[in-house]
Amino acid sequence: MRAYRNYDVNAIQELVAAGPERLSSVEHTGFTKHESEIIRLVESRDAYMIAPDRLDQNYLDEDLVRGIYSSTASIFESVADKHFPPVPRALAQSWLSVSPADRVLEIAVATGANLTAYPRCTEVIGIDISEESIKLAKTKASSLGPGFRVELMNAEKTNFGDRYFDKVLVLCGLCVARNPFRILQEVRRVLKPNGAFVLYEPSLSGIKEVDLLLYLLQPIGRDLGAVWFDDFPARTIPYNTFWDLPEMLKATEFEIEETVFFDAPYNTLRMSKCRA
Ligand SMILES: C[S@@+](CC[C@H](N)C(=O)[O-])C[C@H]1O[C@@H](n2cnc3c(N)ncnc32)[C@H](O)[C@@H]1O
Repeated sequence: MRAYRNYDVNAIQELVAAGPERLSSVEHTGFTKHESEIIRLVESRDAYMIAPDRLDQNYLDEDLVRGIYSSTASIFESVADKHFPPVPRALAQSWLSVSPADRVLEIAVATGANLTAYPRCTEVIGIDISEESIKLAKTKASSLGPGFRVELMNAEKTNFGDRYFDKVLVLCGLCVARNPFRILQEVRRVLKPNGAFVLYEPSLSGIKEVDLLLYLLQPIGRDLGAVWFDDFPARTIPYNTFWDLPEMLKATEFEIEETVFFDAPYNTLRMSKCRA
């Protein structure tokens, strides 16, 4: 949902800073009846947050997500550069700073848009749950050399050994996955100590006025499929912004080294560089 695009964060902050007396002047029977609960929600994120290990985005059922990304793989391929503009892709590569000796895992590789950016003799493995996306990514991987491989695999449960990879990348893969916490635990397991992990994801912002709006819009977003990609009709690209990425990284013991936001002043779309 991008409804917060025209949301005036400053005005809401001023309203809240003015205190409960100002809010109480709102004449609305629903408000009067639920005043204390509404003020509690407005004033504290904790009133509606879900603990990182309890987030189960069951509306992002694996079969549903696989089916959607398989049936839209060629459309995704044709618009991928528009929705994932070069800036975040280039920043991800510069933060990963892949050298030919590295083993790299790319989670939610989709149609393989990032594959050409890695040094040619690196070992790069891309995984995704969408068969049709993997087919398109395979064509790219096979033209890049023997080190490049893509596989159909759920990132929540991979078959890689512990501490196998030097670097891991995920661009907008956690927000569409049923259980991002499990994926982060899996990344923690397969990444070498001190390995680099770069992610680019929409999530809660940490600004309570923005997060409250995302909380309130959640039922509509779920029903419409969190419309964001203008090229896809409603209910075709489901994803979730109502999850707390920094909190989840903390819970899986990643250290966040750097973060850049791509939608200031709302700060819901971020790229972070982390260490295992
Ligand atoms: C928005 S696309 C990713 C875009 C891609 N990273 C890029 O840079 O172009 C989201 C992808 O996540 C994949 N996905 C969703 N859940 C997954 C899971 N549990 N494991 C692996 N891939 C998953 C979907 O199949 C889809 O291809």
